[in-house]
Amino acid sequence: MRRIVENYAELPRFVRKPLWRFWHSWIISREKRDVVMTCMNYGYAGMENEKTIELEPRDESERYGLQMYHQAASWVPLAGKEVLEVGSGRGGGASFLTRYMHPASYVGLDLSEPGIAFCNQHHQVPNLRFVKGDAEQLPFEDDSFDAVVNVESSRCYPHIMKFFSEVKRVLRPDGAFLLTDLRWGQDVPKLRNELRDSGFRIVAEQEIRENVIRALDTDDPRKRALIGERIPRMLISAFGEFAGVQGSGRYSSFASGAMEYWSFHIVHAD
Ligand SMILES: C[S@@+](CC[C@H](N)C(=O)[O-])C[C@H]1O[C@@H](n2cnc3c(N)ncnc32)[C@H](O)[C@@H]1O
Repeated sequence: MRRIVENYAELPRFVRKPLWRFWHSWIISREKRDVVMTCMNYGYAGMENEKTIELEPRDESERYGLQMYHQAASWVPLAGKEVLEVGSGRGGGASFLTRYMHPASYVGLDLSEPGIAFCNQHHQVPNLRFVKGDAEQLPFEDDSFDAVVNVESSRCYPHIMKFFSEVKRVLRPDGAFLLTDLRWGQDVPKLRNELRDSGFRIVAEQEIRENVIRALDTDDPRKRALIGERIPRMLISAFGEFAGVQGSGRYSSFASGAMEYWSFHIVHAD
């Protein structure tokens, strides 16, 4: 089980989407009492000061996951913009960006019907809504958005070129594609080529692996406590892998430098 989680993005393409749908439903089924996880990324911490943004008290427990969103979105102002997020997960980042960055509208899209129902019920924020959909076939008209946000999700997609082509289609000509994700170091040049071949130009990029490691270190006790409290013993190791706790394969791949974490500001090339 742990190996499956660790090598998720290398699994055969046809199992990836069903696995994510199962994952969302399983998490919802475990959530009998309170909601403790609305972010599902590895997190971001500043190198000088771990805290890169002032947060409302209610957001503090998910600081590092939210700081990942802050980092991803900080390339361009989102105020007054129409924003799409692809792979919005459990919606914590979408709610955060809508409340703090004040876009005119924010749509979060993800694969799972129950996951979307959860998000629409849990995150009741003006100008924010969630829709079910597939990154490779976006249910929107051409030129619909000023910005497309994508955080730690693209690596899961079976056909990344379909996703890029869909982003190109729904993003307005002067729009921004804000892509943040992990990749094995040797795959990063391929990612840049895929973006170029899809008609995009990278305006700015930053490798944030050290910030991710710092977040993983700082948040480790909280994650372990949550996993220990809520997860059946036989699944603890798999959840530790998913969360990237110290000693997990994912943590080691970041620590060794084999796995990198990149944040890109991308625009239409033409
Ligand atoms: C690691 S989680 C990150 C979620 C969220 N971005 C965050 O940082 O909290 C990856 C998300 O991508 C979604 N996902 C995977 N494949 C997808 C696809 N083909 N279309 C849309 N969403 C997808 C998963 O359902 C999951 O919610």
